[in-house]
Amino acid sequence: MIFEKKDQDSLNKIIASRRDVRGNNFINKKISKKKLLKILNSAQNAPSVGYSQPWRFLIVNKEDKELVYNHFSKSYEKSKEKFNNKLYNSLKLEGIKESNINIAVYYEKSKTNILGQTYMKRTGEYSVVCAILNMWLTARSLNIGMGWVSILKPKKINKIFDINKNDYKFIAYLCFGYTKEFLTEPELKRLGWKKKKKLKEIILKKGKK
Ligand SMILES: Cc1cc2nc3c(=O)[nH]c(=O)nc-3n(C[C@H](O)[C@H](O)[C@H](O)COP(=O)(O)O)c2cc1C
Repeated sequence: MIFEKKDQDSLNKIIASRRDVRGNNFINKKISKKKLLKILNSAQNAPSVGYSQPWRFLIVNKEDKELVYNHFSKSYEKSKEKFNNKLYNSLKLEGIKESNINIAVYYEKSKTNILGQTYMKRTGEYSVVCAILNMWLTARSLNIGMGWVSILKPKKINKIFDINKNDYKFIAYLCFGYTKEFLTEPELKRLGWKKKKKLKEIILKKGKK
C-alpha cells in the first residue's frame, strides 16, 4: 500500500495531538465494546522482539479500580515528600476513577528462547511499550483519551490482581475515557514544569561516556 500526503498529514495530526489525559479531563461516557476492541487490536499490530507478542491486558473491575485508587493515593502522598514542590502537590496525576476503562498491562516472561532477546533481555518489555503507544494513538484517533499512571508499586498492583511476578512483569496502568477536551500541548509544559527540548538537544554525539 502506498500512502498519500493526506494519510501522512493525518498520522502527524494524531501523533501531535495525542495527550496524557487525567481525571480533570475525563467525562462520564461509556466506551463501546467495538471501540475497545479497536484499541486492543492496534496493540496486536505492534512490533515485538522475535514476534513474541508478550503483551497481556487485564481489564480492571470496579472493586479493583477502587483498590488501585487507594494505593495510588497513598503512593502519591508519599511521592510529594520527594518533590517538596507546590506545583507538584497541586497536580492531578491520574484519572483512575473518572475514566471509563482501566487496563493493567503486563509483560509475560518468556520460558523459551526468543529471537532477538538473547543479549537484550528487556526487549520483551520494550515490545509491550510499543503496543501501549499503538493503543494511545488509536484511542486518540477515536477521540478517546488515555492516561498512563505510574505512581504505583508493582508489588501492590500484582497483589490486587493476584498476578505472580515469576510469570509476569507489571508494565503500565492505563486509563481510557472520553474527554472534555484534548489540550493542545502537554499539561506539564503548559504549567511550566518542563520545556519542550529542541531538536539539537536530543541528538547524542559520539564519545559521551
Ligand atoms: C512511562 C510513562 C509514565 C507516565 N506516568 C504518569 C503518571 O503517573 N501520571 C501522570 O499524570 N502522567 C504520567 N505520564 C504522562 C506524562 O506526564 C506525559 O506523557 C508528558 O507530560 C507529556 O504530555 P503528553 O503525553 O500530554 O504529550 C506518563 C507517561 C509515560 C510515557
